[in-house]
Amino acid sequence: PAPGWAVTADVVVVGSGVAGLTAALRCEAAGLKTVVVTKARLDDGSTRWAQGGIAAALGEGDTPEQHLDDTLEAGAGLCDEDAVRILVTEGPDAVRRLIATGAHFDESTEGGLALTREGGHHRRRIAHAGGDATGAEISRALVEAVRARGLRTVENALVLDLLTDADGRTAGVTLHVMGEGQHDGVGAVHAPAVVLATGGMGQVFSATTNPSVSTGDGVALALRAGAEISDLEFVQFHPTVLFLGPDAEGQQPLVSEAVRGEGAHLVDADGVRFMVGQHELAELAPRDIVAKGIMRRMQEQDAEHMFLDARHFGADMWEHRFPTILAACRANGIDPVTEPVPVAPAAHYASGGVRTDARGRTTVPGLYACGEVACTGVHGANRLASNSLLEGLVYAERIAADIAAGRSENGLHARVPQPVPHPEVPAHPLLGPEARFAIQRIMTEGASVLRSAESLAKAADQLQQLHTDARDALDENGKTAEPGVDTWEATNLLCVARVLVAAARMRQETRGCHWREDHADRDDSQWRRHIVVRLNPDRT
Ligand code: SIN
Repeated sequence: PAPGWAVTADVVVVGSGVAGLTAALRCEAAGLKTVVVTKARLDDGSTRWAQGGIAAALGEGDTPEQHLDDTLEAGAGLCDEDAVRILVTEGPDAVRRLIATGAHFDESTEGGLALTREGGHHRRRIAHAGGDATGAEISRALVEAVRARGLRTVENALVLDLLTDADGRTAGVTLHVMGEGQHDGVGAVHAPAVVLATGGMGQVFSATTNPSVSTGDGVALALRAGAEISDLEFVQFHPTVLFLGPDAEGQQPLVSEAVRGEGAHLVDADGVRFMVGQHELAELAPRDIVAKGIMRRMQEQDAEHMFLDARHFGADMWEHRFPTILAACRANGIDPVTEPVPVAPAAHYASGGVRTDARGRTTVPGLYACGEVACTGVHGANRLASNSLLEGLVYAERIAADIAAGRSENGLHARVPQPVPHPEVPAHPLLGPEARFAIQRIMTEGASVLRSAESLAKAADQLQQLHTDARDALDENGKTAEPGVDTWEATNLLCVARVLVAAARMRQETRGCHWREDHADRDDSQWRRHIVVRLNPDRT
């Protein structure tokens, strides 16, 4: 649809988690006219749900080099070492700047930061806030800073597509905004730099730790804009999500790895600690190994879940160290102080996304990406726990620096964007809102933790059918579903699901969080490389 209103800025940041708000604050501080647009309210993204914390070499005796080693090991041979080096060396100062922005982290009795452990970390390195409410505190601090600085924000604004000029350079974004006064309806922000910080795509599966807004909007936009996407097959399943029944759908309560970091045990239906002997770190092995250990034991015992046993923490520790998790368990009739907690893996984090370089640049000039939507190369085939908030911070700061430098050095970003007219008929037919659930079922059956050529082929066919049906309806009526947030979300979910499945079919090996039952081993001779996808804009 043609935009009904437009505003102009130097930078438009799409998304308001740790990455988006950090990028926006740094851009504004550099004198760039910055607009933040976000799909729901400013604090509605994934960041505020983060529990465990933020990893950085901040403890005595810890070094960026040790953090690098753990990150590379978790990434199963596919991390970009230079990108990781940037993350771990710039990380500690980025966390200090976050603290200076107003975020309060828990302190130890000696007065320094209290640091915990999580899977894949060989030492205590994870700073946390409010016990297990780290993301909520970071979100609070950043939202307050954005409001205090008077940054222009537009909430309830679903991003639709990238605008480009006649030379293919970024010229802004179109948006569907609901109920935000002067910005109601379809409109546009014209800007020569767009920062995608839209978060993940966990809603592509039935059960996920992600909030309902995580529908892959940024990856879908980038695909439609012709940007390169990488590593989409590497969807991380968090090993310990509160099990609420086999048919539980939507966002599920997380039981942080920090609970294991503080000494909780994973036990099977017979009370046996099944991770002992599978990895030197047992329950604190990298996340993919623990998720696979759980799935295997579930298959062996024909069980729907395993248990996390932390009764030995006692009531006091549960209440002070893990108040959020304690409340979620009790709200669901489970008391972790007196009984083991039923847990099973659920979709948690997209390790892949929009491919960027070390400055956060995508392959489309002027389009940047940071946070979960991006694939900077730091996560490889499996993200190390608590590296995501850090990645959001570090690479958002780099993006702001790059945009500011581009403007002052050569005026690149100072140009007034001249978007070419937007096509009236979308190239990708809109799906009805009910398609969301069909996609989730297809993906959960065919492309979740355990994958095979057969399950993936079936998923690909079913997804193709959804697309064909919408395409046929478009051809017959010139129209499919009524444009709106839920139809655009369903359309984005289908777009990312199709690419995810295509990549998962192509990668005929098991590596990191991509687990093929029919190719059980890692194959470095063939597959120590990335699957990079770029859509041909003329084909859908
Ligand atoms: C957790 O608290 O277990 C989640 C941490 C993460 O995903 O990095």
